[in-house]
Amino acid sequence: MFLSVSRIVVLCLFAASICVANSRPGKRVSFNQDWRFQLGDAAKAEDPRFDDSEWRKLNLPHDWSIEGDFSETAPAGTGGGALPGGLGWYRKTFTIDGASKGKLIFIEFDGVYRNSEVWLNGHYLGKRPYGYSTFEYEMTPHLVYGGKPNVIAVKVDNSQQPNSRWYSGSGIYRNVWLTTLDPVHVEHWGTYVTTPEVSAQSASVVVQTRVRNGSISATPVDLTTIIQDASGRQISRQTDKGVAGKGAQATVNQTLKIAEPMLWSDERPYRYKVISELTQGGRVVDRYETPLGVRTFRFDVEKGFFLNGKPVKIRGVCNHHDLGSLGAAVNKRAIERQLEMLKAMGVNALRTSHNPPAPELLDVADRMGIIVMDEAFDVWKIQKTKFDYHLDWDEWHKRDLEDMVLRDRNHPSIIIWSIGNEVMEQWGKNPEGGRISRELTAIIRNLDRTRPITSACNGVSTDNKVITEGDLDLVGTNYHHDHLPEFASMFPGRPIIGAETNSSVHTRGSYAMPSDEIRTWPRKDEDVLKLGPNYECSAYDNSVVAWGSAHEEHWKLVKNRDWFSGVFIWTGWDYLGEPTPFPWPAVSSYFGIIDRAGFPKDAFYFYQSEWTNAPVLHLFPHWNWKQGEQVDVVAYFNNADEVELFLNGRSQGKKRKQGDDMRVFWRLAFEPGVLGAVSRKNGAVVATKEVRTAEAPARILLTPDRQTINADGNDLSFVTVRVVDKNGTLVPAADHLISFDVTGPGTIAGVDNGNQISHEPFKASQRKAFHGMALAIVQAKQKPGRIVLKATSPNLAPATVVLNVR
Ligand code: GAL
Repeated sequence: MFLSVSRIVVLCLFAASICVANSRPGKRVSFNQDWRFQLGDAAKAEDPRFDDSEWRKLNLPHDWSIEGDFSETAPAGTGGGALPGGLGWYRKTFTIDGASKGKLIFIEFDGVYRNSEVWLNGHYLGKRPYGYSTFEYEMTPHLVYGGKPNVIAVKVDNSQQPNSRWYSGSGIYRNVWLTTLDPVHVEHWGTYVTTPEVSAQSASVVVQTRVRNGSISATPVDLTTIIQDASGRQISRQTDKGVAGKGAQATVNQTLKIAEPMLWSDERPYRYKVISELTQGGRVVDRYETPLGVRTFRFDVEKGFFLNGKPVKIRGVCNHHDLGSLGAAVNKRAIERQLEMLKAMGVNALRTSHNPPAPELLDVADRMGIIVMDEAFDVWKIQKTKFDYHLDWDEWHKRDLEDMVLRDRNHPSIIIWSIGNEVMEQWGKNPEGGRISRELTAIIRNLDRTRPITSACNGVSTDNKVITEGDLDLVGTNYHHDHLPEFASMFPGRPIIGAETNSSVHTRGSYAMPSDEIRTWPRKDEDVLKLGPNYECSAYDNSVVAWGSAHEEHWKLVKNRDWFSGVFIWTGWDYLGEPTPFPWPAVSSYFGIIDRAGFPKDAFYFYQSEWTNAPVLHLFPHWNWKQGEQVDVVAYFNNADEVELFLNGRSQGKKRKQGDDMRVFWRLAFEPGVLGAVSRKNGAVVATKEVRTAEAPARILLTPDRQTINADGNDLSFVTVRVVDKNGTLVPAADHLISFDVTGPGTIAGVDNGNQISHEPFKASQRKAFHGMALAIVQAKQKPGRIVLKATSPNLAPATVVLNVR
């Protein structure tokens, strides 16, 4: 039992630091280094005496699928990315020093795809089927100490295929941690921080801490909870004294105050940190950190979403978890780059479709001010693919859902829980839809009542039992834009979110005219042939799937309908797998606003012009066409009344957006030269833009996103490769093979070009350009120095870039 004895507010200075959820500085350390791996089964590999000396050495996170070759006959199908699955083993030999005797030692896996089983020194620790759950095992009883070797063995079985509608990756693809604790400690995911009362004057912070005494006797323990502001300054503190019974767990409730709280929002994601310190006889035995953002929000039936009392349209995208050519292997910088680009586009929200994300994504979202819909499942009991999660549903769904909420519920970024995406139980008035939905919402509410629960339903109908009987707080609609205006009257009195929208299909740099004619896929074969069977979709925002809608068309429907609280566009980035609308040889998606390599398609600037105040004047397409050919020229712009277009200095007229249009366009006969645009407000120039006809390809141009990276073995520089003419103009049709050479403390972690039908390997030191561009991802080693990346191609002048590793 704990007694509240003191509440002291002390001001003192701590070093400011980034708060990562569930962290314990010094006690929870990376366990990623020096593993051995074998693809394929191995008899008795769980036995510590097994000889793995011939196995490959690697560091985690690791995804073996991304290292494989594309194949039309891959068991995963093109839906799964046409890359191999299979079964693999990981082993690691390690020592634990004698001083750790008496401590409790745990291993935590952020995620293993899938069906992992773990042994320590031959003892079975457990299994975990779901590839997106985070889990921990206690290793203490089976460890040996001092210089003696311990062996952890992990079997990963992704051989039953297909089990996913998108590329999953295979292996220990997220981080692994080793946690060493005193017997008296804060439990795993042992805090729950909420802010039930928030005003301009103060916020009450309720901190629930689960304390465990794993020792053999009862012991007096103090729990001190400290709140630090973003600069690391202590602003609130409370100590409770108590006795922790032997082997017992206790939940301690404390309420602290923040005076004049700074609020967390998408515009200003201010973060506090909660530190839970346990002391025994004056000695700190555990220190556990929890992120804290103070914010209020609600979904109003008529007015939509309010954040901190202010109406905010949710401008979200859905993303799958792969990181392009890095595959599923988690890399924090790659995640950060994805979200940075989305943020620059004006995005303020992300749906983790259709599974719990890597913890790093949530830390980045907290820090950048991105509202998250954290989603649990793509299937419940009824399958979508033969070997998917429906096989594990009965035994695991409660545990997996609880673990998602326990792991994630302190992130200020998470504003919505989603219990599923387009589950099959929603169809045909199936009563299971209502029953399972009620079971899942109850599981969540038992652990968190501060966030609304939704389910993303494409059965947008009053027959859908998930929506009508599922006890959801928020109706999540997918698609059906034709009926969007009616949604409010279909579900009276209920707030609504566009949980998934759009599904426009574009290829970067590809244009099919006329630009104002929507191409809806699937199309008849003769149409495909007429367009040229090049497996490309037009980037004019005139190419959609039958259930989808163009970006401009959909945003027009949503922009001024306040009750429609927002959108999650399918998708922010192109992802591996689900190559819609084309079959093999296509292997990755066309839905992204940004391509798989991270290069924006034109729609990126459409949203930037609508969703941000950053000055935008985007003029497209490229200016290399046949003499006299009719070409549609489009401009997206903001902060201005009109745009005037010039061809080789001759005005082609001024255009203003008509009605609710969000673009202007001209139809011109092509002649080579310079296309220029000027946007003006009240006659004054706001922005100018030029697109030039490229001459013959002459040289390579390299542009790194960051010139200085960290010598931590993880950090990345994303180097954009352009094939340009002698004047530096991108050559839009260039497809040269570019070879890369790296010297210094770095390696090439992956290459790409965003081409949805390319079967070139991602783990390579060469890549063809696609529509003039390619990408090389350079990864730092754990050694400072200068990396020199050289790019060469026959018939082009080479290019070199120097990266500093610090
Ligand atoms: C949705 C589904 C997504 C993706 C998308 C493609 O129905 O939820 O996972 O398949 O269609 O348009």
